[in-house]
Formats: sequence, C-alpha cells, structure tokens
Amino acid sequence: MSFTVAIDGPAAAGKGTISRAVADHFGFAHLDTGLLYRAVGKRVLDGEAALDAARGLVAEDLEAEGLRSPEVAQAASRVAVDADVREALVDFQRAFAMRSGGAVLDGRDIGTVICPDAAVKLFVTASPEVRAERRYREQVGNGHAASYAEVLADVRARDERDESRAAAPLKPAPDAVTLDTSHLSIDEAVAAALAVVTKARGA
Ligand code: CDP
Ligand code: CDP
Repeated sequence: MSFTVAIDGPAAAGKGTISRAVADHFGFAHLDTGLLYRAVGKRVLDGEAALDAARGLVAEDLEAEGLRSPEVAQAASRVAVDADVREALVDFQRAFAMRSGGAVLDGRDIGTVICPDAAVKLFVTASPEVRAERRYREQVGNGHAASYAEVLADVRARDERDESRAAAPLKPAPDAVTLDTSHLSIDEAVAAALAVVTKARGA
C-alpha cells in the first residue's frame, strides 16, 4: 500500500535532512524533487532548451556531478517558473509517490500540487538568516568561496522567485503541519517530524 509524506519549504530549511531521517526510520523511498529542477537547470546552463531538458530527463541525470552548486540552484529556480517544465516533471514524481512501501518527497509544491492527498504534509521553514548560515557552512565545507552575504542574497532571491511565481508557488498546503526549525537542532527537528508521521501512521 502507498503512504506518501510530502515535505515542502524554502531552501536550506532542513527538508532533505528530515526527509532522509523519516525515510530511514520507516523504510520509505525518498525523492529530493529539487534534483529534478537542478538537473534541468544544469542542462540549460549547458545550452539545452528548458522544455527539451525536462522532457528528456532520465534518472541518471539526478546523479550528475555539480548539481549542488549555487549556479545550478539559481538556474533551477529560473526553469521552475515555467509551467510547461513543471508539467513535464509531474508524472515521474507522482509515480514515485505511489510506489508501494511508502515514499517521502521533498520540494516546494509536493503537498499543494504533486500529492494533494498525501497522508502527511509538513512545511519545514526557518528564518532566511538561519538558512543562509546553514548553506554558507555547507558551502565552506564543500570548498565554495561565496561569502555569507552572497549566500543570503541567493537564498532571498530564490525565496522571492519561488513564492511569487504563478505556477505552483511555494506556500504551505492548508492541511500542512508547519515546523519552524530556526531554533531546533537537527535531532530536535527530526524528532518533531517523526512524531507527526508516527501519529498519521497510527490513524
Ligand atoms: O536544496 P535547496 O532547498 O536549496 O533547493 P532545491 O530543493 O534543490 O531546489 C532548487 C530549486 O528548484 C528551488 O529554488 C525551486 O525553484 C525549484 N523547485 C521547485 O520549484 N519545486 C520543487 N518541488 C523542488 C524544487
Ligand atoms: O533540503 P533543504 O535545502 O531544506 O535543507 P537541508 O539540506 O536538509 O539542510 C541544510 C543544512 O542545514 C544542512 O547542512 C543541515 O545539516 C543543516 N541543518 C541544521 O543545521 N539544523 C537543522 N535543524 C536542520 C538542518
């Protein structure tokens, strides 16, 4: 039987960390849907048209090198504005969500558009400053040279584009549980998310 957990929220809120922990705990499959948009963004940076890239996307594209770079993140958020690009990626995400044994999908529009009937919806958020600090630390660890101010500007620019676009804007589904991780450790955030999913499993 399928059991879908939808986890949405802005950049570096902790979606991926929480999704992986929930998937591990319950033995669910996990799809980071940001990778789909990043893979399309990367192909566009390499010169391909966005819609061709979205329609031609294959699973191996999600494992390409360099998908985590800030340039690719910005390219992803630009292609993500295009309703046709988004439409081309729907079937893959819904098929993943319906696989037996349970699935966790994280992104921006999982609870609102991709899986409106998900068993659990979490909206994971944190202040822009906290999120930028987290991303900055990650990038320093990965050898990227951006300053904190640049990372904060990148986070704000993507928030603005993701929230204001007409097609599937970033916003909590009406029935989502909001989890503000600004003042939570990873363990605390994961525990809070597991409690919500555990309750829904029992219901
Ligand atoms: O990891 P981070 O939260 O920084 O970004 P991501 O989840 O990899 O997403 C990169 C970009 O893809 C976002 O800024 C969104 O514009 C777009 N995206 C989207 O529009 N819808 C999704 N379901 C997932 C990502
Ligand atoms: O997937 P998303 O972009 O929403 O965020 P993430 O990749 O899960 O988390 C971004 C960074 O914040 C990672 O380096 C996490 O280890 C860190 N993090 C944190 O410091 N505190 C939390 N409560 C959650 C995540």
